[in-house]
Amino acid sequence: MTSTKNALLSEVASAIVDTDNKVTVVGVGQVGMAVAFSVLAQGISHDVVLIDCVEDKLQGEMMDLQHGSLFLKNPRINASTDYAASAGSRLCIVTAGVRQREGESRLDLVQRNTDIFKHIIPNLVKYSPNTILLIVSNPVDILTYVAWKLSGLPKNRVIGSGTNLDSSRFRFLMSQRLGVAPGSCHGWIIGEHGDSSVAVWSGVNIAGVRIRDINPVIGTEEDPEKWEDLHKNVVDSAYQVIKLKGYTNWAIGLSAASLAHSILKNSFHIHAVSVHVKGHHEIEQDVFLSLPAVLGGNGVTNIVNQCLTEAERQKLLKSASLLEEIQKNLKL
Ligand code: 2OP
Repeated sequence: MTSTKNALLSEVASAIVDTDNKVTVVGVGQVGMAVAFSVLAQGISHDVVLIDCVEDKLQGEMMDLQHGSLFLKNPRINASTDYAASAGSRLCIVTAGVRQREGESRLDLVQRNTDIFKHIIPNLVKYSPNTILLIVSNPVDILTYVAWKLSGLPKNRVIGSGTNLDSSRFRFLMSQRLGVAPGSCHGWIIGEHGDSSVAVWSGVNIAGVRIRDINPVIGTEEDPEKWEDLHKNVVDSAYQVIKLKGYTNWAIGLSAASLAHSILKNSFHIHAVSVHVKGHHEIEQDVFLSLPAVLGGNGVTNIVNQCLTEAERQKLLKSASLLEEIQKNLKL
């Protein structure tokens, strides 16, 4: 008996199943689901796999996203506790791990999340040896180093979400002060995604007009307008949101999706992301910190050699020493 489907549809050719933009998201907590939703809602990938160890939550999140397929141009959305489901991923975004509790710093999470990575990273590379790893879990700079060591992948294919989010917060706060869209406020936060990040005030500009040329003391304690408070607010942002709602997820989800877009679309956009910085700005440590980097289909293809002031460079060096000190005590 002919099935309804066969009576309805006459096959002409077999459908293509695989896509060239498969993305695996590891961790279906608040951040992981914000990443997955942002990637799907913006059409950045049409093939998303969710991986986690909690079966019911995983299936529930998958079904809830699938039920929106009509509004998402019918992407493939799958989920599994088995890493085999991630096979052939162009990009693997790792959000799994414990997150800061109120009053905890990102660095407090390092050994617990390193231990979790010892399971996650080798499994991702086993099924997708050509993938690019985008690390979001905190402390992201150290965990990107850990992922690089555990994966054996070349450093251009192991990237941390880094201060892409901090720079977004910085540009938003600038936009609020100036009444100009964040996309037209150009400013970079580099270094650690955390308490020791560095605001590159020497490069802040609107339409090419360097703010330091207008206000020579901007970003310093001498500045009567207290522009430095913008950077202090950036550093405090996550703590403030965590105190209010218990976690951050939307901004980091959109931030990670913007990085996924540049990688999957091979767009060569420049983002402040956590990269292997040894040898840049005379950093001698084997650490990952955020610098402006060109992102495309082969991951990090270039790092921008910013013209930092000596004070900005010294802050970067201080972050590098701090991270190396923590890394030295890690049980990898
Ligand atoms: C954030 O900055 C917690 O790293 C996360 O929102």
